[in-house]
Amino acid sequence: MRPLSDVCSAAVPKPKIVVTRPIPSEALSLLRPRANVVVAPAKPPIPSEDEVARRIRDADIVYTIPQNPVGAKAIGGAKDLRMIATMGTGYDNIDVAAAKARNIRVTYAPGILDETTADGAFALILAAARRTGEAERHLRAKRWKGWAPFGPTAFLGQDVHDATLGIVGLGRIGKAIARRAQGFRMKILYTDAFRNEAAEREFGATFVSLDELLSRSDFVSLHVPYIKKGDAGSTWHLIDAKRLRQMKKTAVLINASRGPVVDERALASALRSKVIFAAGLDVYESEPRVEPALLRLENVVLLPHIASASERTRVRMAVRAAENILAFLDGKPLLDPVP
Ligand code: 8YV
Repeated sequence: MRPLSDVCSAAVPKPKIVVTRPIPSEALSLLRPRANVVVAPAKPPIPSEDEVARRIRDADIVYTIPQNPVGAKAIGGAKDLRMIATMGTGYDNIDVAAAKARNIRVTYAPGILDETTADGAFALILAAARRTGEAERHLRAKRWKGWAPFGPTAFLGQDVHDATLGIVGLGRIGKAIARRAQGFRMKILYTDAFRNEAAEREFGATFVSLDELLSRSDFVSLHVPYIKKGDAGSTWHLIDAKRLRQMKKTAVLINASRGPVVDERALASALRSKVIFAAGLDVYESEPRVEPALLRLENVVLLPHIASASERTRVRMAVRAAENILAFLDGKPLLDPVP
């Protein structure tokens, strides 16, 4: 194992950075003058942990994204590894404890995607409430003829304006959703580990228990991190069959956080039997697999994890991860160490 000083020294060969998937060129341009940068191919879209382990085993630094699992096995097999930088704000794909046990630095890219992700989540709110996907499919299938679409009972959705929005997790993205909701004159409920009186003043939001939020909200939007089953504060299947039954029959569930927070099979069953009105999902339990029962339903909007996918935001996220690596190589304090 090479000492840390060697990795950072100009006197030894350039460190090897393995990028686990193609990333915006702006980030690569920052790294290439300083390192031997190897970019893994885009296929498979979501590599297995074994595949990641194979790719990173001779890396000094790993540059990764939330969809690529950098688990204990991959970390254990990379004997020279000194740093893992993700361009994501979520880092549940990295076994941080395994990295820390070997003094491997881990950085992430918080705060950059918040507004863009909130735009994406709000797009889901509107699309699911107003059945836009279903209506567009109808039109594209050339079924827009005759009476039906103009009839007073066709494609009726739920109003977003003046409705009650329940935000589960009032962090940065949750607050960005609350700001948007104010423009729609929505009443805001929230639940979180702690009360946030400043946010209450800012958004006129009311702190409630999850039970109360579910039973009172017209829209429930999830913005919690994924904490795996068995760990303290686990959010695995936070929304399950029982929780879905607590919601209004006219309610809409939005998930742009992490897939495992919702029990997808229970959700499919609730949507099929109209326990709730609709759902909008950007994330899934085992991406890119989507529960087949969801694919058969009209009352769910399904996006392929694109809530943060704006050109500007993705470049900024990618560059931030690269800047964390440059700080490490320069021996400076990391910009965004994982807590
Ligand atoms: C990904 C995300 O960054 O940052 C996160 O935590 O979930 C996403 O926005 C994005 O899919 C790029 O991999």
